[in-house]
Amino acid sequence: MEEKCPVCRGTGWNVTVRNGIEFAERCQCVQTQRKCDLMQQARIPKRYAECSFDNFKLEHWPDESIQKAKRQVEYFVHAYPAVESGILLMGPPGTGKTHLAVAAIKSLIDQKEVGCVFYDFRDLLKTLQNSYAKEADISELDVLQPVLTVEVLLLDELGASKISSWVQDTLAHILNYRYNEKLSTIITSNWMDEEMKDTSGWLDKQEETLDKRIGYRLRSRLYEMCETVQIQPACLDYRKILHAKNKNRVAHLL
Ligand SMILES: Nc1ncnc2c1ncn2[C@@H]1O[C@H](COP(=O)(O)OP(=O)(O)OP(=O)(O)O)[C@@H](O)[C@H]1O
Ligand SMILES: [Mg+2]
Ligand SMILES: [Zn+2]
Repeated sequence: MEEKCPVCRGTGWNVTVRNGIEFAERCQCVQTQRKCDLMQQARIPKRYAECSFDNFKLEHWPDESIQKAKRQVEYFVHAYPAVESGILLMGPPGTGKTHLAVAAIKSLIDQKEVGCVFYDFRDLLKTLQNSYAKEADISELDVLQPVLTVEVLLLDELGASKISSWVQDTLAHILNYRYNEKLSTIITSNWMDEEMKDTSGWLDKQEETLDKRIGYRLRSRLYEMCETVQIQPACLDYRKILHAKNKNRVAHLL
């Protein structure tokens, strides 16, 4: 037999009396269950499951941009839902963009019980394409519905896929819908804006900029939908730090 919560005896509600007036409040057991459900629905990849603001280290970074980026993302979580826009995290590979974005949605679920969904942009496009097949057991609408309507969408690696007019239309549909419904979107991208300050030559290595990659009209819409949080291209690749740490560990064993 399923154990009933001893506090609410399985009703999900507790009655409290304040100043002689009775109030019905949601029991902690319902809140905990809801957080577990939201966390499961968020589709956070295993690799990022442990990411949080607490384990985002700052000591390796030579400049302030990474600290500022962390502060901006933390502020978004703190202020939510009183926010005017989402976040567009731009920067070179391995600088912690996905880590910070995942930390944000995990905190939103944990602290504010906000529905969030993680989607890798390329995976989303592939899943949509697969849904067009005759034998597909899921429709385009089934795939798009949560992406369009979830309270906070994390769209990882925007612009990673080659941009055909179909990709552009799909992205425009998602962004326009969410923009009109005033839903927040957190986006990460390796692609930068032309005017970004670049001290490492990362921008030179890129043949294109974000507006060329996703089209000027969409980039323009993003300015209104998201606050741009840029990680200076001078930052190190954290994957190199992790790699060096691992190598050291192995060297000790030999
Ligand atoms: N400041 C940090 N503190 C702790 N771990 C970090 C930090 N920055 C990055 N990492 C870790 O390094 C790895 C790479 O980070 P992440 O995937 O977030 O980079 P990214 O900027 O999204 O890269 P890409 O552009 O290639 O997607 C992850 O395992 C992440 O948890
Ligand atoms: Mg990433
Ligand atoms: Zn209860």
